[in-house]
Amino acid sequence: MRHTPSCRYFRPDPVPAEVLHRVLDNARFASSGGNRQGWRLVVVTDPDLRAAVADLHRRQWDAYIVHAREGVVGYQGDGSGKKMEHGTAYATRRLNRTDEFSARLHEVPVLLVCYVELATLAVTDSQLDRPSVVGGGSLYTLIQNVLLGCTAEGLGSALTTLLAAEQPSVDELLGTPPGYALGALVAVGWPEPDKQYRRLSRKPVEEIAFTDQWGRPFTR
Ligand SMILES: Cc1cc2nc3c(=O)[nH]c(=O)nc-3n(C[C@H](O)[C@H](O)[C@H](O)COP(=O)(O)O)c2cc1C
Repeated sequence: MRHTPSCRYFRPDPVPAEVLHRVLDNARFASSGGNRQGWRLVVVTDPDLRAAVADLHRRQWDAYIVHAREGVVGYQGDGSGKKMEHGTAYATRRLNRTDEFSARLHEVPVLLVCYVELATLAVTDSQLDRPSVVGGGSLYTLIQNVLLGCTAEGLGSALTTLLAAEQPSVDELLGTPPGYALGALVAVGWPEPDKQYRRLSRKPVEEIAFTDQWGRPFTR
């Protein structure tokens, strides 16, 4: 968990199907609502398909980065209409790395296109006056396991979600039937060793977990 950064730089060497199969064979034990396991992945290794998927991803990324370079990455998910600011040196460095990643996405040997079957989701927060978050819970548990499994195999991985906005075109490329939501694109390959982050930067427990009452830090 502490050693699974988003890998932005990959070697072009192929990933043996056996290794990837082992990752998925472990990842499938993730939790899902009612154990319905509505997740479905398309393992894209064909170079032409990878190029087409990467083009679609780039279309979204190129629109996104215009705003990000202006210091704004989008609007907060709380419905407040507030813009989400972006501008620290760390954020700029990450943005530059992700820009290179997007430009070279077609070279990454494996692109996992991740779907979830809509009929398996019980979206328990759909009636609230805010964006729903629950449905994704039955896809991203599997994906986090995939990321961890890749690390265990020495593979790098990167979870991205921009491709979701291109779902109709992606479905056409991959022959996806109706009834599935595209939730993520996970890039997988052997990391370029010199260009990886060694240490992840995350908030401390005391900032993200509370004791009994909101705002009272959870401590040992
Ligand atoms: C829901 C979700 C969506 C994400 N979407 C993207 C994305 O579209 N493109 C991308 O390059 N990274 C994406 N990421 C990866 C994050 O940017 C990355 O985990 C974060 O910047 C921390 O980087 P690190 O894990 O290397 O420390 C996403 C991560 C999550 C959990």
